[in-house]
Amino acid sequence: MAKVNIIGAGLAGLSAAITLAEQGYECNLISNFPSERAQSVLAEGGINAALDTCGEQDTVENHFEDTMRGGVYLADPNAVWGLVQNAPQVVQRLADMGVPFNMENGRILLRSFGGQNKKRTAYAKSSTGKFLVYALIYESRKYEARGLITRFCHHEFIRLLLEEERGVRVKDTYTGRQYDFVGNVILATGGINGVFPGMTTGTVHNTGDVTATVFAQGMRLSNLEMMQYHPTTIGISGKRMLVTEAARGEGGRLFVNREGSPWYFMEEKYPELKNLMPRDVVAREMYFVVRREDTDGQVYLDMRGLPGDVWKRKLSDLREELLHYLALDPAKEPIPVEPGIHYFCGGIDVDERHATNLAGVYAAGECCSQYHGANRLGGNSLLGAVYGGKVAAQSVMADGDMKPQDGSVRAVDVSDAFAGEASPALIEELGKHLYEGLGIVRSEADLSKALGLVCELEDTCNCQRETARIALAKAILKSALARRESRGAHYREDYPDRDETFQRITVADAGEGKICISWKDIPERRGV
Ligand code: FUM
Repeated sequence: MAKVNIIGAGLAGLSAAITLAEQGYECNLISNFPSERAQSVLAEGGINAALDTCGEQDTVENHFEDTMRGGVYLADPNAVWGLVQNAPQVVQRLADMGVPFNMENGRILLRSFGGQNKKRTAYAKSSTGKFLVYALIYESRKYEARGLITRFCHHEFIRLLLEEERGVRVKDTYTGRQYDFVGNVILATGGINGVFPGMTTGTVHNTGDVTATVFAQGMRLSNLEMMQYHPTTIGISGKRMLVTEAARGEGGRLFVNREGSPWYFMEEKYPELKNLMPRDVVAREMYFVVRREDTDGQVYLDMRGLPGDVWKRKLSDLREELLHYLALDPAKEPIPVEPGIHYFCGGIDVDERHATNLAGVYAAGECCSQYHGANRLGGNSLLGAVYGGKVAAQSVMADGDMKPQDGSVRAVDVSDAFAGEASPALIEELGKHLYEGLGIVRSEADLSKALGLVCELEDTCNCQRETARIALAKAILKSALARRESRGAHYREDYPDRDETFQRITVADAGEGKICISWKDIPERRGV
C-alpha cells in the first residue's frame, strides 16, 4: 500500500501513525508545527475510562449512558459504544507507554468530571494532554527510526488531490516549495479555533483553513452549530485561558455576589451534580445569573476550601499558571471566570469507521464530528482523539488503496489557487460577526443578522482561502438557523425547548457553489 498521509501531528495524528506503523504500514506525518505545539498539549483535566479503581461500581455501560445523555442523544451510539468499550485499554496502554498518571497503591486515580456521577477521569495533575502527547512522541520515534513514520514538520496543507490520484498538496513553509503526496489521507487537524480569533481556549495555529478548504472541495461537514463553551475561562492576551474543570472536580465552587453575599447558584439549583453539571448547562446558568439585577455581574470560582494535599499532588500546575498569568493565588482568593469557546463538537462528517464522504479520505480528533453529539463530556476529547486516530488508521488498512499508487512525493511548480493567505482584517471581521451570532444564547434575529454581515464580506474576497472561510462561516450560521430547537450547546431563546423531531444531525454541503443544510438520521444502536 502507498504511504498514508496524515495531516496533523497532535494526539489523533500520532495515534493513527503509531497504529499504522505497528502493523508495518508506512506513513507521512505532515504538520505545520511539531507535535509539542499541537492543540492536544493544552488539554488539562484528564481522559475518561470506566476503570472503576475507586470502588464506585462504574461500568462501560455507565460511561456510554453519560456520553449519550451529555451529547443529548445526537451522537452515533455505535461509535460511542466502541469509544467507551475501548477506553480502559486505551488508558492502560498510555500508562504502559509512560504517561505519569496520578496513582495510589499501584492504581490509576480517577477524578470527578462534569456530567458524570462516577469518578472516571484519569489524570496527570492538570497537564494530562501534554503528558499524553509526550508519551506518543516517544513511541512514534521508534517507528521513525525504522522508516515507518516519516515526519514532515513545517509543511502546510494546501488542498486535497481528488483527481486521478488521491493525496494532498502541501507547502514547505521554510522554502515555499509545494509538493504532492500521493496516497490515502487521514485529516487530524484539530478544532477550527482560528475562525474565532482570540475567542477560544485553543491555539490559533489551528486556523480552520483545512476544514474550510476541504469543505470547498466537496467534503460534508456536520453538527457545526454545536460549539462548546467551557464555563471557566479567563481572557488573556490573544486567547482565552482555560481553568480546568478539574478545579471543580476537586471541590471548586462557582458563586456570584447577590445582594452583597456569595450565592452558590449551581449548588442550589442542581443539588445532585452541583458545579459539575454538563458544560452547556453550567455555561448557560452563568450567562443568566450575571444578567440578573440582584447580582454584581461576575461569577467567581472559589477554590479556597481545597486541601493542601490536593494543591500539591493534583493541581499544582493550575495554581502556578494562575499565579504566573494573573498574579492570583486560587488557594487564597476566588478567581473571576467567564464561559469561553472551547471545543467544536461538529466538523468533518465521518461514519463509525472515521471515513468521510470523499473516497480515500478519513478524519479523526477534533476536526471531525464524532462521539460528542450536541455537547462533549470533559475528558472524552483526549479519549476521542487517541481512539479515533486508531480507528481511522485501522479503516485505511482495511480499505487499502483505491487503486495501486506509488506513494511518491513530487515537487509541484504551478501556483495553487488555495495557497494564498486570508487577510488578517477579514479573519478578524468574520470572527466578530460569527461570535455575535453564535453566543451561548442564540436567536433567529441574531443569527440572520450575522449571516447578512458575513454575506456582505463575500464581495471583498481576494483569494480562494477567504472565499472558503466565508463559506464555512455561512455553513455554521445556516446550521444554527436550521436547528429550531434547544439542544446541548445550541440554545435558541426563540425555541427554548428540545424538540425530538430535531434529533437528527445537520449536514452542510457546499456543492454547486451553494451551501445546503440537510438532515441525517442517527443510526440505531446495534445489539451488544
Ligand atoms: O477542563 C478541562 O480540563 C478540559 C478538559 C476537556 O475539555 O476534556
